[in-house]
Amino acid sequence: MAALNPEELKKLRETFRAKKQTCFILGASGETGKEVLTKILRQQLFSKVTLIGRRKLDLEGSFYSNVKQEVVDFEKLDEFAAAFQGHDVGFCCLGTTIRKAGVAGLVRVDRDYVHHSAELAKAGGCRHFVLESALCADPNSSLLHLRVKGEAESRVKAVGFDRLSIFRPALLLCDRQESRPAEWMARQVLGAVAYIFPTFYSISTVTVARAMANIVVMPAKDNQKVEVLENADIHALGNTK
Ligand SMILES: NC(=O)c1ccc[n+]([C@@H]2O[C@H](COP(=O)([O-])OP(=O)(O)OC[C@H]3O[C@@H](n4cnc5c(N)ncnc54)[C@H](OP(=O)(O)O)[C@@H]3O)[C@@H](O)[C@H]2O)c1
Repeated sequence: MAALNPEELKKLRETFRAKKQTCFILGASGETGKEVLTKILRQQLFSKVTLIGRRKLDLEGSFYSNVKQEVVDFEKLDEFAAAFQGHDVGFCCLGTTIRKAGVAGLVRVDRDYVHHSAELAKAGGCRHFVLESALCADPNSSLLHLRVKGEAESRVKAVGFDRLSIFRPALLLCDRQESRPAEWMARQVLGAVAYIFPTFYSISTVTVARAMANIVVMPAKDNQKVEVLENADIHALGNTK
């Protein structure tokens, strides 16, 4: 994906703002989700932003004045269908790890919660779904995490949104609060490699979030219903401010 011209992006944002669309974010308490929230609020892209999560976040001040929070039980999501009603755009940054949730928990969160949320969002009128997946996601992968991500992508595709943007970032660079030793180690090594090959193995959550905010204001290329953004595409799109 080619880098955007900042002037062109400015015009696209103005046109988008004028439409007064609404959105929801799944996973706004997480590292990528919180950056997405900050970006879309700073850019004032939406008239209303709804955070759908398992807990209420402490958000105070006028910066969050158009933010609404819906606390849901993801195991009984149908009972919370109303939370998914009436949003034009949905951002999904949900995810867990085997270490935190076990194998069954990973499948539940990264595939089933994502798929079920997508179905409710579509039924509620959402037209554009932006899904954070992962590099090398593949339903046929022998690696569980990549297989689960691939299955989630396939199931969300089948939901049939007018537009689905799948992001496949590599290792996320951020100041993670939670301890993840393997990820920390990879970050030390790949953080250094990133100086030389910035788009190969890693990407900052800030860049992913900026790319997500940028894609919603851009028309889909060739009216594609499904677009897949690999790590280099996300860098290119997210590097335009
Ligand atoms: N880490 C990486 O290097 C990497 C690389 C490529 C792709 N990804 C993918 O990118 C996405 C975002 O990653 P991230 O590191 O930004 O996420 P994160 O910081 O781990 O945040 C995950 C979000 O999912 C929510 N969540 C987790 N378990 C849940 C559960 N059982 N029920 C309800 N909500 C739950 C969390 O809510 P709470 O705050 O309430 O826990 C949080 O909002 C994920 O899909 C991840 O797999 C990650």
